[in-house]
Order: sequence, then structure tokens, then C-alpha cells
Amino acid sequence: MANVTVVGAQWGDEGKGKIVDWLSNRADVVVRFQGGHNAGHTLVVDGKVYKLALLPSGVVQGKTSVIGNGVVVDPWHLLTEIGKIADQGVNITPDLLVLADNATLILPLHRDLDQAREAASSQKIGTTGRGIGPAYEDKVGRRAIRVADLADPEALKPKIERLLSHHGALRRGLGLPDADAGQLFDQLMEIAPQILAYAQPAWRVLDQAKKAGRRILFEGAQGALLDVDHGTYPFVTSSNTVAGQAAAGSGMGPKGPGYVLGIVKAYTTRVGEGPFACELSDEVGKHLATVGREVGVNTGRPRRCGWFDAVLVRQSVAINGIDGIALTKLDVLDGLETLKICVGYKIGDKVVDYLPAGMRDQAAAEPIYEEMEGWSESTAGARSFKDLNANAIKYVRRVEELIGAPVALLSTSPERDDTILMRDPFEG
Ligand code: GDP
Ligand code: IMO
Ligand code: MG
Repeated sequence: MANVTVVGAQWGDEGKGKIVDWLSNRADVVVRFQGGHNAGHTLVVDGKVYKLALLPSGVVQGKTSVIGNGVVVDPWHLLTEIGKIADQGVNITPDLLVLADNATLILPLHRDLDQAREAASSQKIGTTGRGIGPAYEDKVGRRAIRVADLADPEALKPKIERLLSHHGALRRGLGLPDADAGQLFDQLMEIAPQILAYAQPAWRVLDQAKKAGRRILFEGAQGALLDVDHGTYPFVTSSNTVAGQAAAGSGMGPKGPGYVLGIVKAYTTRVGEGPFACELSDEVGKHLATVGREVGVNTGRPRRCGWFDAVLVRQSVAINGIDGIALTKLDVLDGLETLKICVGYKIGDKVVDYLPAGMRDQAAAEPIYEEMEGWSESTAGARSFKDLNANAIKYVRRVEELIGAPVALLSTSPERDDTILMRDPFEG
């Protein structure tokens, strides 16, 4: 029985939340394996909107939900999100939610550093300001505070001292006041009982689930072009977002992730700074932003919009090992007379069929487009492939051809059930 790993194949916000929620119905356990509350995953069920940042999207269907070791966890945010979702009628109990005891904590000093750096920098990344990058830095720097440390106050005190001695120099350089070790200790002790209620060796929970033949659904955050290695560096997030990370970020071994489902928006968006060859500042760009309601879930920032970039997605298919895609937001293209798809780049006098790693090449890449006829019919809310008009079908087929992966699911509105199943990812 295959597990399924859902990953973003572009710059995030492809509709991962909607698809994970839909697939949760067929899964027993849903696992987040990287990122933090920089993610914003939207689920719409019978008109009711759920916005999740840290909780796996399986919680709404009442599935066992795991926040894996690869996630950076702001414990205060976690409690707030649990409270918010409870107000919407979804009760999160320690039976339902497992928090890896070896996950790294995001602390207020990480948020301070993230925001102060962005304010001071002449080359802004456009981060979410939630402390993600600095928390991962401390993790690989081997000075992070982890979930399990909350259970051991004696060990926590010297760890905080060590962490603050590192942050002191950084804070002074940015004109921030020194962080107070005693205050941080007290703040952590205050929430420790609530957080520890969810803490478990997540790898063990997953190992048991695997042995019991349970289906596991991995939920990626961000997208391949935001991956710290494979993305448009340095305009990326600070974790590996590709499917390979599902294994390391959950403790399940390389076969755990199973079938890799790339989530692909029928056009391209990006929020934050960085290169974006297909970006449009014309009426079509406005159409995509308005009809697609392209506004950041967490930060409320407008998302930059552009044509579908088949070069990027083909690259994404390769680096993730994508078996099939869920093509989302096809309905947003309704009413556009002509559609363009980027099939290559011109960089100076060279033509390339992939995005090179160099920052200046990435910034200089100009899209080479092929054109297709659009459609005036509505695809919004279609629940069967047969309901799509001929030109929409041609577009879908051309996307498949160019990226080298088949469409497994098609999404035609934000609503859970406006989803067309072409082949079941759990059946491999
Ligand atoms: P995620 O970060 O990948 O989970 O995506 P977001 O939730 O940040 O952004 C996707 C947005 O598109 C959300 O507002 C979804 O409700 C919406 N959405 C998802 N699928 C579709 C679709 O097929 N059509 C339309 N019109 N909206 C969709
Ligand atoms: P989901 O899971 C889109 C972007 C930020 C910024 C860069 C670095 O909803 O697809 P960070 O705060 O992570 O250090 O910011 O990454 N970013 C996202 N963009 N969707 C996301 O998540 C994102 N998470 C981070 O805008 O450009
Ligand atoms: Mg999002």
C-alpha cells in the first residue's frame, strides 16, 4: 500500500492544503516534515474556510496528524492555532496531534532577528518575518532549543545561556536590546506543560503506523523553487522543501514518502522577492491576481502572478521525483483569449531549457513562450474531465507533455469536492 507525499512544484501556494485535505479521506496519518508557520494552507469545506500554518491539513478530517522533526515550531503560535481551529469546531487533542520531541523551537529572538535583518538589508528576501531562517540556522549550528528540552529545566538553562551568547552579538549588531535569559526560561516553562502534552518520538509513531499497514500522507510546505538547495537562492526559504525531505523530516527512511504528487498551479505565482521570468504586470497579471484571489494567507501580501512556466515545473518534476501532479486553479484561466506557456529561456545570447543556478542568470532569464487558444466557457466547479471544454483539455494535455508527468488530480475551485480524480495516487 503506497504512501503519498504532496509537495509544491512552484513557489508555494499551489493549493497543497486543499489537495491534502481531499486526500486525507483516503489516509490514516498526515505528516508535516519541513517549514514552519511560514506556510499558509487554505481548506474550504462547504463554504467554511480553514487557514492552517503549522497544523497538518489532515486535522480537519480528524486524521492523526504529526508535526515531524524537520519542522521548526513556534510553540506559542502552535497553541494559538490550536485555539483558532477549536473555535471552528475542530478539537485537537493529544490523541490526534503528535509533535516530534526532537523538533526545533522557534523563539521570539528568531522572529526579532528575521524582522530586523529584513528591515536592515539592502537585498531583502521578503520573508514572512516569522523567524524561520534564524531557527534553522540555530538547528544546524547545534545550539537550538528543542521540544524535549522543555521537559528538562536543568538542561534547558545552560542551553539558553549558550544560545543567547550567540544571539547577543547578532542583536547588538542590529541595534536590538539583549535578550533576557531568565525571561525566556520563564516563558518556556509557562507553556511547557501544554506543549509537552503533544510531544512524542514521532518516528516511533510512524514506524508503528507503517507496521500496522496504515496509509501515510506527507504534506509539504512551500515549493521546489523555494528549496534552500534547488530554489532561486538566496530568495528561498531555509529548509529543503523537496520530496526527499519527507523521509529525513519525519524519520521514516527513504521508502516512506511513496508516490510523489506535485501540486502545480495552472499559472505561476510567487510572494516575496526574487527572480520570476514569467511575471506579468499587465491586464492578464491583474486577471490572475483578482480571479485567483492571489493574496498571501499569512502576510496579506499580494502575490506576483504570471504565465505557466513549464521549464520550472519540469525541473521540479526531476528534483522531487514527481510521479504525477494535481493541477489546480485551471478555472482561473477561464475567459482569457490566448494563453502562453514558457518553454525555454533566453539568457543573453544563449537559449536554455532549465533554470541555471547562478543568481545573475536567473535574474536575466527571459521567457520563450508558446501560445495556445484560451476558452470562454467556465471550468469552475467542474467535477468530471468530460465537463471540460476542448481547449481546456488541450491545455492540460500540453502541460503534461511539457513537464513530463501525468495529471492525477484536477482542481477547479477552492471547495474540497470540486476535484477531479484521474488516477488515485494511493494506488501508485
Ligand atoms: P497552499 O499554500 O499550497 O496550501 O495554497 P494556499 O492555500 O496558500 O493558496 C491556494 C489558494 O487557492 C487558496 O485560497 C485556495 O482556497 C485556492 N484554491 C485551491 N485550489 C483552487 C482551484 O482549483 N481553483 C481556485 N479558484 N482556487 C483554488
Ligand atoms: P506555502 O506552504 C509562498 C516565501 C516568502 C519569502 C521566502 C522566505 O503556503 O506554500 P521565510 O519566511 O520562509 O524565510 O521566507 O519564502 N515563502 C512562501 N511563499 N508560500 C509559502 O508557503 C511560503 N513560505 C515562505 O514569501 O519569499
Ligand atoms: Mg500558502
